[in-house]
Amino acid sequence: MKQRLLSAAVVALMLALAAGLNGVPPRYAEYGRWEVVADKGLPAGGPHAGQPKVVYANPLAAREWKSGKALPVGSIVVKTAGPADAPSLIAVMEKRAGGWYYEEYLPEGGKYVLKFGGPGKQQLCVGCHTGAKAKDYLFTRP
Ligand code: HEC
Repeated sequence: MKQRLLSAAVVALMLALAAGLNGVPPRYAEYGRWEVVADKGLPAGGPHAGQPKVVYANPLAAREWKSGKALPVGSIVVKTAGPADAPSLIAVMEKRAGGWYYEEYLPEGGKYVLKFGGPGKQQLCVGCHTGAKAKDYLFTRP
């Protein structure tokens, strides 16, 4: 019984989170269920500065996070800034066949809107993340 109540609560929370991330593709919006791979000692500067930041990795990415190898196709890494239930920024990196694909969502008018990155607009993100090329373009990876 306790178990059932607990799982009902978890489902309710997941639904609430999913609804709160309106505008973010579902496969990115489920980051709340993934492993936190970095949340302390993140560099203070950069474009996503000023608020608590958390980096999440989907199961595929989490498995290889510390391996030192390039992450496999299908890996998704999400960085949020600000409150966990209503982040002020959701930055996504998804490993596709041709390499990393970048998108950044910001809240606007009650939903999240793709503001940077996205189809044909990768250069801003790539330009900076090339600085972490040795770690498969991921700054927070060990
Ligand atoms: C000026 C440099 C710069 C630009 C431009 C930039 N990033 Fe980042 N990014 C960083 C740094 C530095 C980190 C490490 C964590 C931190 O300090 O926020 C990071 C971390 C991340 C992470 C967590 C994985 C990691 O690398 O550790 C994601 C996801 C991410 N950025 C996505 C994006 C997306 C999407 C864009 C383009 C819209 C972008 N970034 C543009 C510097 C940059």
